Amino acid sequence: MSAKIISGTEIAKQIREELKAEVAEIKEKHGVVPGLVTILVGENPASISYVTAKQRTAHDLGFHSIQDNQPDDIKEDELLSLIEKYNNDDSIHGILVQLPLPKHIDESKVLYAISPDKDVDGFHPVNVGKMVIGEKCFLPCTPHGILEMLVRSGVETSGAEVVVVGRSNIVGKPIANLMLQKREGGNATVTVCHTRTRDTAFHTRRADILIVAAGRPKVITADMVKEGVVVIDVGVNRIGKTPEGKAILCGDVDFEAIKEKAAAITPVPGGVGPMTITMLMKNTVQAAKQFAGIE
Ligand code: GUN
Repeated sequence: MSAKIISGTEIAKQIREELKAEVAEIKEKHGVVPGLVTILVGENPASISYVTAKQRTAHDLGFHSIQDNQPDDIKEDELLSLIEKYNNDDSIHGILVQLPLPKHIDESKVLYAISPDKDVDGFHPVNVGKMVIGEKCFLPCTPHGILEMLVRSGVETSGAEVVVVGRSNIVGKPIANLMLQKREGGNATVTVCHTRTRDTAFHTRRADILIVAAGRPKVITADMVKEGVVVIDVGVNRIGKTPEGKAILCGDVDFEAIKEKAAAITPVPGGVGPMTITMLMKNTVQAAKQFAGIE
């Protein structure tokens, strides 16, 4: 039997409709327009396409949005001053610095410089710490998007065996943490596999829910999963170009083969990607409301 396709595009569309209504309401009742700045350093093609999509969505939702492009050779101090400027700008509620940054810039220093109240990426240690202990905070966008997809698709996470492949700060560590918490979309038993795991397939075959953020094309093959698994594929790998110059994408799992065994699976593109962007918008609306004292 072929798996149900969990469409991030469709779920994201629903959430954006909800957000659009919320933006209109806070604008009318409180005179507040959510403001988002995305800072891009250099010209990494993947980063340009992510940032463009984020700006387009912010614009569509009626945000005040700024795209701030900086040259590859910007000095660390200059970037820190720029962040400080936006920290002090009352029309901006969310600040996002697109990663990765050039090697001469200390990424942690930059992320620590963003005010935790405007950290809509959820990468500042204050927000990471709050997330771990289950306090209200900005949740990192990709893990937050995965939780929403699971919940809105009716996937039972309570008591489920969840296996996460990948231990990055952006996806693997936070999604593992969120799914073990006592919360909606949580209460799972979580295993994290990484590059030093002795037998990854042993773990992935036990998974009721398999979340893959390994960053390598099709590393999870059909023999590595059990019948009826729910697969969330976070990978976005550029494996070539069409004759028109468009990137050809694939995920970290062998979609075609695994969809014959899985109960449900996310596609690439159209899976986790649109959810990540949407949760950034949700966090920015939350930041604007908190700034205005609405909640
Ligand atoms: N690079 C890849 N994913 C992300 C993300 O979620 N946020 C930022 N700022 N950079 C990224």
